[in-house]
Amino acid sequence: MQYAPIREEDGAIVILDQTKLPREMAFRRLRTLQDAAEAIRRMEVRGAPLIGATAAFGVALGLAEGKPLAECLRTLAATRPTAVNLHWALTRMENAVSGLAPEAARAAAWAQARAIAEEDRRANAVIARHGLEILLRQARGLGRPLSIMTHCNAGWLATVAHGTALAPIYAAHAKGVQVHVWVSETRPRCQGLLTAWELAQSQVPHTLIADNAAGLLMMQGRVDLVLVGADRIAANGDVANKIGTYLKALAAAAHGVPFYVAAPTSTIDFSCAHGRAIPIEERGAEEFGNMQTPVLNPAFDVTPARLITGFITEQGVFPPDRLAEIPR
Ligand code: MRU
Repeated sequence: MQYAPIREEDGAIVILDQTKLPREMAFRRLRTLQDAAEAIRRMEVRGAPLIGATAAFGVALGLAEGKPLAECLRTLAATRPTAVNLHWALTRMENAVSGLAPEAARAAAWAQARAIAEEDRRANAVIARHGLEILLRQARGLGRPLSIMTHCNAGWLATVAHGTALAPIYAAHAKGVQVHVWVSETRPRCQGLLTAWELAQSQVPHTLIADNAAGLLMMQGRVDLVLVGADRIAANGDVANKIGTYLKALAAAAHGVPFYVAAPTSTIDFSCAHGRAIPIEERGAEEFGNMQTPVLNPAFDVTPARLITGFITEQGVFPPDRLAEIPR
């Protein structure tokens, strides 16, 4: 069972509040620019594609309130720094609305936000198909379930629909391919619990592990493939994703385990030459609980292109050195 993590209703936006999951399924109505910005900042919506779609609808809500376009763009751009889908969506909104009279601008903003959301849904459905081919190839002749490791949550919760890294896994499961997913907890915010919850909704076999267990499982030959999402892909193929992704990529390379990144092309930042130029969000110490000790909390890390087997996008599957071939 998959739900809509974002939908439009009577001139407002209804989101599934991910800060309440997996304990409670609570939907929340966003009516204003500030509502949308706060929902992104507090991570009630999270995951790069969903952040982008929420920001797009946030512009539409802001213009409907009579806020100037520049204020809408500035407010939303300041919410979270790493996921490039946010800035990609805001640029699209700016291009669609700039120079229009107020009424036409409001209509154009809703139309563009809907288009952005619909494109994400479609892109992820295609990612599911391309990724499925890779999973089928890996599963051939195994004689046991295909064992996939993922990190953070790159499922339907993190997108408008289907998910990115989890989309091929759902497609494989639906096709009757036997899969098992190692779900790493993803400290400190534990987005792995969202992944475990999602997979349970669709009866996909999975096991939660501590982040630090990943290396051991790969060493023991219990992982056939690693499949993660991305927050920003630099032009050279370096990937910013949830903190802990890099360590998994290192372990995968050490043990000859293929390491794939699934993402729509809206996550590729061709203006960013390499991973060192990607801004890394630092979040508050409270995410570690009430610790009376200094805390450093970078939310993302950068996996160098050389550790990545391939990118699964809606335009096809690309090794890092062929990213430039993707049409922009
Ligand atoms: O801080 P989050 O939970 O927004 O981080 C999410 C991730 O790192 C995901 O892997 C990424 O956004 C891809 S989601 C399809």
